Amino acid sequence: MQTNSRWHTLETAEQVAEAACRHILNAADSAISERGKFKLVLAGGSTPEKVYRLLAKADADWANWHIYYGDERCLPVDHQDRNSLMASQVLLDKVAIPANQIFTMPAELGPEVAADRYKLAVAKAGMFDMVLLGMGEDGHTASLFPGHQHPQDELVHAVYNSPKPPPERVSISAKALSNTRELIFLITGANKQEAVKLWRSGADLPVARIAPENGVDVYIDSDAYKP
Ligand code: 6PG
Repeated sequence: MQTNSRWHTLETAEQVAEAACRHILNAADSAISERGKFKLVLAGGSTPEKVYRLLAKADADWANWHIYYGDERCLPVDHQDRNSLMASQVLLDKVAIPANQIFTMPAELGPEVAADRYKLAVAKAGMFDMVLLGMGEDGHTASLFPGHQHPQDELVHAVYNSPKPPPERVSISAKALSNTRELIFLITGANKQEAVKLWRSGADLPVARIAPENGVDVYIDSDAYKP
């Protein structure tokens, strides 16, 4: 488990979303006042949806938000399982973030081409201000899966044979995801309990390999972890 990880255990998934939303908005205020922009990496999967819905209702300085994705499934842009579709429907289409500040992964082009293209956006972004990540039942995060090998120095990986459908994906690397001022893991549900236990016991899971300098904040509900 990361040395400086801060665990925020809340009773319900709704409380997790509310606390994480407040944290993200505070980080945005600080980043914009200090550096003029807030570079946020969105998490995929279903857990973040509650957070995105709350963010969409917030009064934020959206014109200075810059949006990236931690990973994407190699599916058509309008496919219901695209991480970018969910984020657009519940957040990005509802707030005034300039379109040229939303960096969608072109995963419909396939893993290799999309990874090659997206690494340019990640390189240009430099250090992120906030990365959001979920965790799968096997301890994967973004599309970094147990047992998968990737070149360490890559910014963005092409992913094949994903154990979580679809098999082909694109993922920002652990190294690039760790290049952030703040990072939040959003974890809810009893089905994550085993992976949380393994992670906390020191297992070498993909979630454990995400190690920003300032540590990580884990927002987790009581179904997923009971301290
Ligand atoms: C993806 C996600 C993935 C997700 C976890 C948790 O594209 O599938 O990036 O890493 O965060 O699998 O998914 P849930 O939030 O749906 O449990």
